[in-house]
Amino acid sequence: MGRDLLKMQGLIPAAGGGTRLGPFTNAIPKELLPVGNKAVIEHVVEAMRLADITEIVIVVSPHKHGLSDYLGSGRRFGVNLTYVVQDERKGLADAVLSGEHVINGSFVVVLGDNFFRPKEFLKDLILYHVNERADATIGVAEVEDVTRHGIIMPEDNGIADIIEKPSVEEAPSTLGAIGAYVFEKFIFDAIRETKPGHKGEYQLTDSVKVAIDQERRVLYKKIDGIHIDVGTPADLMRANKWYINNENSR
Ligand code: UTP
Repeated sequence: MGRDLLKMQGLIPAAGGGTRLGPFTNAIPKELLPVGNKAVIEHVVEAMRLADITEIVIVVSPHKHGLSDYLGSGRRFGVNLTYVVQDERKGLADAVLSGEHVINGSFVVVLGDNFFRPKEFLKDLILYHVNERADATIGVAEVEDVTRHGIIMPEDNGIADIIEKPSVEEAPSTLGAIGAYVFEKFIFDAIRETKPGHKGEYQLTDSVKVAIDQERRVLYKKIDGIHIDVGTPADLMRANKWYINNENSR
């Protein structure tokens, strides 16, 4: 196996404004809002650790000191955390690009405001990427609301097209990207070739589309289980309700 699973790094974008969770997010980064007894981003760090990722890059905005105050060095999670700053809030693809100087090879991106169960989902995604020798692997699931996700057009196990937040009529399927990706380093070049899209921001979905157009091996893998994008107060409640009903043993 050419790619060493153990050497894969993690990157967690956490530099967004979290406006839909305002006014809490005037004071607290949304990634620090609790799901159960832990910050939502802490669940992501734990899932990475479970996938043998011990080098994790957290992308923060210039004002988000709270994340490093809370997560610290990462030692208490058994990982080493490096913080990089996204100077301006220019979208998810730009947030990923902010980490380029500290990424050495294959890496995993999981959004810092997304809650997944079971935590093993990430290990499965990485194994699939490595075994398939993919250039990029996008974690997807059947989504209820296509207008909130990057929606793929599947073709065998590959992706023929991907559209960010399409209308219901435009959506090529109901399989949406759900905030977990594995990339080879070429993705940084694809991001540099990406034009601003939805909301005038650099969207990671559009960079994946650049990679598809370059005939890279872009695959998708269905992620089973629970996925909640903690973007709104209702999502935060839903994640906590799930936690209380399923894991509230302490
Ligand atoms: P979202 O689009 O859900 O986050 O990005 P947001 O922009 O903070 O939300 P609203 O629309 O203002 O409520 C998903 C993830 O990508 C990160 C966010 O921190 C979140 O974890 N992100 C988004 C960045 O790191 N940088 C960006 O420029 C945009």
